[in-house]
Amino acid sequence: MIDWLLQSAAEHPDLARGVPSPGVFSSAELLRLEQFRFDKRRREWLLGRWTAKQLLRSHLRDQYAFDAPLDALLVGREPGGAPVAILDSQQALNAGWPMDAVETLPLIGAAGEQPAGPALTVVGVRLPVSLSISHSNGAAFCALLRTNGATAHLQLGADIERIDTRSQQFRTTFLTATENAWISSATADLADMLVTATWSVKEAVLKALQLGLTVDTRRVTALCRFDGDLTQWTPVQIECDSLLIPRRNVNDGVTTPVAHQLTGWWRTADAYVLSMAALEMAVPR
Ligand SMILES: CC(C)(COP(=O)(O)OP(=O)(O)OC[C@H]1O[C@@H](n2cnc3c(N)ncnc32)[C@H](O)[C@@H]1OP(=O)(O)O)[C@@H](O)C(=O)NCCC(=O)NCCS
Repeated sequence: MIDWLLQSAAEHPDLARGVPSPGVFSSAELLRLEQFRFDKRRREWLLGRWTAKQLLRSHLRDQYAFDAPLDALLVGREPGGAPVAILDSQQALNAGWPMDAVETLPLIGAAGEQPAGPALTVVGVRLPVSLSISHSNGAAFCALLRTNGATAHLQLGADIERIDTRSQQFRTTFLTATENAWISSATADLADMLVTATWSVKEAVLKALQLGLTVDTRRVTALCRFDGDLTQWTPVQIECDSLLIPRRNVNDGVTTPVAHQLTGWWRTADAYVLSMAALEMAVPR
């Protein structure tokens, strides 16, 4: 089951002003905060981290009856930028987590976002969840999927976008002909919402693949069908270029995409579209 949380800057005036709330952020995170050059990034990072920490804490309560302090729940980064949910080593010890799982993990890792100053790391354990974070215009949306107990390797992507009018050029540059034809066939007054939803699902899929926007978004096709209540999660029909799927060696350097399933959902929430994509990959025997 996927857990998710949507938070708005309006509900968190301190975070919206770029001020970290006491007891929420660790010392490494506070150092990280000082490294942001732009106020907007600082504010969205704070709201995104706050939302992720709340989601992680409620997940640990539900799954393990363990109440972790927010400043012990951290979000590290894979080298490509994908988030990693971490419980700091002291709290991991308190919770009886296997201590041989303790690692030193980077708080910063995305190409292009490596600020000057010390490399910030955190010592802790990776929590058995796939976490995804997204921000848009004063809102943050986080989702997580439990990975322990799963028979397949799971990766989640989540995205939030404010519903806006996007140009015809945007549609031809980023959406496929199939997506544009499908959107044009729907009622004209839904066009802004459907273009936004299509774009959002593509981002969620590319996050689930841990690629981000490093590839042409037309390599993913997402048809955001709807049936009745737009505020309920609705499945999306997704097709993806198989070359984007992680591959495994079959023999002598010949590779093939791993057996997988890609599932997506979308919905609206006030002026936003939310989307999620889950990539389920067979674990090699
Ligand atoms: C990742 C990306 C799709 C995010 O899109 P966006 O609409 O700008 O931002 P969103 O708010 O929806 O998502 C941002 C979050 O995606 C996550 N993310 C970043 N790279 C990711 C990846 N490769 N896979 C999965 N998730 C990723 C991060 O958690 C990030 O939030 P954080 O930096 O606060 O931790 C896009 O920024 C991207 O692909 N960048 C790659 C190119 C690059 O490296 N640029 C320089 C980075 S500053």
